[in-house]
Amino acid sequence: MHLFEVYKLWDIEPVKGLGTTLWDKKGETYTDLYGGHAVISVGHCHPHYVKMLSDQLANLGFYSNAVQNSLQRDLASRLGKVCGYDDYALFLCNSGAEANENALKVASFHTGKAKVLAFRKAFHGRTSGAVAATDNPKIQSPFNETSNIVFAPLNDLEAVEKEISKGDFAAVIIEGIQGVAGIFEPTSGFLHGLRSLCDRYGCVLILDEIQSGYGRTGRFFAHQHHDVRADIVTMAKGMGNGFPIGGVLISPSIKASYGMLGTTFGGNHLACTAALAVLDIIENEHLVENAARMGEYFRKTFEGDKAIKEYRGKGLMIGMELKDEYKGLRDRLLFEKHFFTGAAGAQVIRLLPSLTISQQTAESFVNAWKELTI
Ligand SMILES: Cc1ncc(COP(=O)(O)O)c(C=O)c1O
Repeated sequence: MHLFEVYKLWDIEPVKGLGTTLWDKKGETYTDLYGGHAVISVGHCHPHYVKMLSDQLANLGFYSNAVQNSLQRDLASRLGKVCGYDDYALFLCNSGAEANENALKVASFHTGKAKVLAFRKAFHGRTSGAVAATDNPKIQSPFNETSNIVFAPLNDLEAVEKEISKGDFAAVIIEGIQGVAGIFEPTSGFLHGLRSLCDRYGCVLILDEIQSGYGRTGRFFAHQHHDVRADIVTMAKGMGNGFPIGGVLISPSIKASYGMLGTTFGGNHLACTAALAVLDIIENEHLVENAARMGEYFRKTFEGDKAIKEYRGKGLMIGMELKDEYKGLRDRLLFEKHFFTGAAGAQVIRLLPSLTISQQTAESFVNAWKELTI
C-alpha cells in the first residue's frame, strides 16, 4: 500500500530533536524556528515532558471517557489558573479542527441558531464546520459548502453588524491572530466592538487561539493583549507539544448536558499528561515572558531590514513579508543555513519557534539571514 499523497514534502527526515535542534537521518543538524506548524511550545524532547509521558505510559496509556480520570480535572484546574479563564469549563478533544467543530456546535446548541460569521482569509481547520468557516474554497468540497457561514472583512465592524443584526447568527469565530493567512491582527477597537455586537445580538464570540495561544504571543492568549473576553476559546497545537490534544474553554453561561459532546480519545491519560508537562515547563521556565522578550528582539532586529516589506505579529508569532527580490529566501535558509521556517504563500516567512528559544539561537538565525541578504 502507498500513502494518499496530500502533502508536498521536503526531502529531509528528522529522526531526533532536542530543544530547537533537529537531526536528520543523515546526521545533519537543523535549527527549528517553525515547530512543525507552531506545535512545539516547550522544545523537542524536553526531559520533564519525556519523563512524565514515559512514566504515564508505563502505568496506563488509555481508558475511555466512561470512567473517572483525575488527570482531566488536574489539567482543567491548572489551565484555568494559568490562562485567566478559571471560571470557564474545559472540554478536551484531539486537534484544532475538532476544537473548533465542538465550539461551533456548542454555540449552535446554546443559541438554537445555525449561522456563523467568520472572517476573510480565516483558517479554522479541515473538518466540516471548521473548513466551512475557513476562507479557502480550494479546500472545501461540495459537501462542506453551506449557506450557514458568512465571511466579513477583518477589522470591519460595519460589515459584521450588517450581517449579525439579522438575528439568526449563533456565533462569530475569529483567530486571535490570523496565522495561515500570513499573520494579520484584529485591532483592539475591532475586538471590543465585536464583543459589544455579540452581546447586543445574542451571538457567541469564539476566539480561535489554536495557533496564537498557549503563550506564543507573550500573553497566554493573543486576545488578552486587548483585554477582551470570549465566550468560547479554542486551543490545540502548543497544548501538547506534539502529543495530539485540543481544548475548548466554555463560559459558565453555557450549560453542559450529558451526551451534548463526546469523543473516544479526547482527554486520554497520555494527552492530559503531555498537557500537564507543558504547563509545568511553561510556568517553571517563564516561557510566556521569554516569548515576549524574544519577540521584541526579533521585532527590533528585523523591522526596517532591507529584505522585508512588512514585519507583522506579536511575540513568537511572526510574519515577515519579503520584498519581491528576496522571494527564494525561505528555501535558502533551509538548504544553505539549515533553519526551518514557515511560509504563507511565496512571500511571507513565518517564524513560530518553541517558546524556549534562546538569545543565542535567535542571533544565529539573524546572522544566517544577514549573510543571505547582503
Ligand atoms: C487558527 C487555526 N485554527 C485551527 C487549525 C486546525 O488545527 P488542526 O490542524 O490541529 O486541526 C489551525 C491549524 O493550522 C489553525 O492555525
